[in-house]
This record gives sequence, structure tokens and C-alpha cells, in this order.
Amino acid sequence: MLDALKNRRAIRQFKTCEVERDKIETLLEAATYAPNDRMREPWHFYVLQGDSLKRYEHVALDYLQKRFPTKPHLVESSMEAITKTPLVIVVTSAIVDRDEGATKDNTFAVSSAIMSMWLMAEQLGLGMVWRTRGVGLVHDTALHHFVGASDEEQLIGTLCIGYPAEEITTEKKRTPFAEKTTWL
Ligand SMILES: Cc1cc2nc3c(=O)[nH]c(=O)nc-3n(C[C@H](O)[C@H](O)[C@H](O)COP(=O)(O)O)c2cc1C
Repeated sequence: MLDALKNRRAIRQFKTCEVERDKIETLLEAATYAPNDRMREPWHFYVLQGDSLKRYEHVALDYLQKRFPTKPHLVESSMEAITKTPLVIVVTSAIVDRDEGATKDNTFAVSSAIMSMWLMAEQLGLGMVWRTRGVGLVHDTALHHFVGASDEEQLIGTLCIGYPAEEITTEKKRTPFAEKTTWL
């Protein structure tokens, strides 16, 4: 398990080939076994490929052009995060009416589910990155509207997935746990 955790990496460059349906379903199945408070199972997944991904590109381009009107190069390079990704899964978490604590717990559960998907992806030979910024569009309403999420859902992650086209050779850097731990 420790090896699996150490080897998991954010992958951002993908081959153009599609991800098979059964592999996508395995990722989704892995997610649903995540721990969650009171079995609310607060996640929902929006799978974008092919035509729907092309339509999302228009939404993202529109967002970036409005956000960075004087930086066309930035817009162009940011767009590569989706134009060169064969599969995007947008993950939402349920908002619990008038219960901030439960709503927070739901986001923790959905984060756990995304981590399960990330580890599962690695085992299936896929690469993945969890995006929130830029074309991740998690902190904006455009993607929320585009996927048709309800007002009772909040976006947690835009998962860009595909077969890796990058080799990561650098060692994974982390602060030793001793510097982040207080033994009481
Ligand atoms: C909540 C969250 C949001 C993230 N958002 C982005 C993002 O918008 N763009 C991006 O390139 N990577 C994003 N990442 C990936 C991190 O940059 C990556 O996990 C970090 O650099 C550590 O690298 P590793 O995953 O290979 O260990 C995000 C990760 C998390 C957990």
C-alpha cells in the first residue's frame, strides 16, 4: 500500500487514445466504496468524452478568454489541459440544506472517493490529475451549468484522465511526517 501511495502521481500529458468503457466503470465503482458519513453517498459523476468534451472545450475557452483577455498565450496553453485529454470526469458533492457540518463532511467523503479513483487509475495503467483551477473550472459557475448539476450540488474536482504520455523520473518530494506531527 505504501508503495502504491508513493508511486501515485499527478499525470497531465495523455496519449490521444480513448479510455475503454469498462475501465471508466471500474474507476466509478472504486469511488463508490469510499467512506462517507451516514451513508449519504454524496457523490455524482459527470463523464465527458468525445462530443461532450468538445462542447466543454467551448465553455472553457469562453471562460478563459473572459478571465484573461490580454493573455492569449496563457489561454492557449491552459486549453491544452483539456484539448489533449481524452476523458474528463467532473465530480460533485451534495449540499445538505441548512447543515454546514454535513455539507463539509460530504466534501471530505467525495475527496476520499477521488483519491480512490486516482489509485485505481494507476493500477489500470491510466494517468490522472485532479484539477480545480484554470480549465478545472471548479470555482466558477460555467462548468456547473454545463454539466447540468443542481443547486444542491457543488463541484469538487475535474478529473483529467487518459493513458500517460509522460515519464516521471523525479523523486516524489514530501516533508517528512515527523515535521507535521505532534505526539500528545
Ligand atoms: C484539491 C486539488 C486540486 C488540484 N488542482 C490542480 C489544478 O488545478 N491543476 C493542476 O495542474 N494540478 C492540480 N492538482 C494536482 C496537484 O498539483 C498535485 O497533486 C501536486 O503537485 C502533487 O503531485 P503528485 O500528485 O504527483 O504527488 C490538484 C490537487 C488537489 C488535491
